[in-house]
Amino acid sequence: MNIQEIVNRSIEENKFIYGVFTTPKNKPDNPYKKITARPINVKNKNIIQFEKFTDKQAFHENYSYEEANEEIINLIIDGYKNINLFTSEADYQIIVSKKGSVKVTEKQPSKKQSTEEHNKKKQYIINENETCDFLELLGVMNKQGMVYSKKYDKFKQINKFLEIVDDSLKGRELKDDFMIIDFGCGKAYLTFALYYYFYHLRKVKVKIIGLDLKEEVINYCNEISDKLNYDNLKFIYGDIQSFDYADNIDMIVTLHACDTATDASLVKAIKWNADIILSVPCCQHEFYDKIKNIELEPMLKHGLIKERVSALVTDSLRGLFLETKGYKVQLMEFIAMEHTPKNILIRAVKTGRENKNAEIEYNNFKKFWHLEDLFIENYYYKQ
Ligand SMILES: C[S@@+](CC[C@H](N)C(=O)[O-])C[C@H]1O[C@@H](n2cnc3c(N)ncnc32)[C@H](O)[C@@H]1O
Repeated sequence: MNIQEIVNRSIEENKFIYGVFTTPKNKPDNPYKKITARPINVKNKNIIQFEKFTDKQAFHENYSYEEANEEIINLIIDGYKNINLFTSEADYQIIVSKKGSVKVTEKQPSKKQSTEEHNKKKQYIINENETCDFLELLGVMNKQGMVYSKKYDKFKQINKFLEIVDDSLKGRELKDDFMIIDFGCGKAYLTFALYYYFYHLRKVKVKIIGLDLKEEVINYCNEISDKLNYDNLKFIYGDIQSFDYADNIDMIVTLHACDTATDASLVKAIKWNADIILSVPCCQHEFYDKIKNIELEPMLKHGLIKERVSALVTDSLRGLFLETKGYKVQLMEFIAMEHTPKNILIRAVKTGRENKNAEIEYNNFKKFWHLEDLFIENYYYKQ
C-alpha cells in the first residue's frame, strides 16, 4: 500500500487512532514544530482534531473526515519528515528524506481503539439502516435501509459525492431556486442523490436538470423521478454542446462524461458563470496524439504510460483553464466507478478575480507539452 492508500483506508474505514508529525521540512515558513491528530466526537459528529504546537502554544483545528484525509496526506507530502500513524490495523512510521523519498515501515498495532471508537460506524450523509426513497427504488437498499452487499460500493460512492457537495457548499446561503445541471447524467444515481440531499437534508427546494445523449436512459430517469415525486428534477435528452439554458445556473456537475464532453461541460459552466463546478473526467483521448516532449520520450514511447500521462496532463490543463477564467481549483480524490478507474474530481469555485499568474502557467504548460488546437479553447473561443 502506498501512503495515500494507507491514509484513505484508515480514515474511510474508521481505523485511524492517532497521528504524530514531527521534524518540519520548511522550518522558517512553518511555525508548528509538531502536530498531532486524533478522532473525537463533538455534538454527535465524528471529526478529527489536529493539535498544532508552536514553541509556546498549542492550537486546535477540527476537520471533517474528508478534510482530515487531505490534510494528513498534505502534511506527509509537504510538511513533515517524521510521521507516525497508529491505526487499528498497524502502526506506520513514515520517514521522508531530504530529497523527498519516502520510507514506510509497518509494525503490529500498538494502540487499541476504545470499544466506543470501534463501534462507531463511519457517519455517512445518507446512513445505513435509515430509509431512503431513491436508494430503495434504484435497488441500492431495501425498505428498512439495509444496503445490498453488491451495491455497497455504489452506496459509498454516492455518500462520498455528497460529502464533497456538502463541503463545497460550506458557508453558503442557499436559496430555493438554486439551479443545478448534471451533464452526462447516465442512470442518474448521483443526480437523484443530489436532489435528495437538498430536499431532505438541507431543506432547500433546488431545481435540477439531468442531460444525456441516451434517450431510453432519459425516459427511464423521468419515470423514476415521477415515481419519487421529485417534482423539480427533470431529465432532458440532448447533447451538451447544443444544450442551452437561459436562466441563472449555480452549479454544474459532470461525472464521468466521456472525453471532450467534459470540456464542453466546463466551457458551458464558465460561460454561464456557474459558481460551483464538480467534474470527474473520464476517457481522456484527445491529448494522446497531441502531447510531445522530447526529454520525456523515454516515458511517452510506452503507449500505456503515455495514455496515463496524457490523462493527467488533460486534467491539469483543464484545472489551469478554469483558473484563467477566475475559478479556484482543487483536484481531489473521488471513488472510481466499476467501469472506469478514473478517480480525480475537479472542484472549481468561482472567485471572479482575474488570475494573471494562471495565464502564464497555462501558456507555459501548453508550450512544455507542445499542445495546440485544443478542443476546450476552440469550443470556448469560437462558440
Ligand atoms: C459513464 S456515464 C456516467 C453517468 C453518470 N454521470 C455517473 O457518473 O454515474 C457517461 C454518460 O455521459 C453521456 N454523454 C457522453 N457524451 C455526452 C454528450 N456530449 N452530451 C450528453 N451526454 C453525454 C453518456 O451517454 C453516458 O450516459
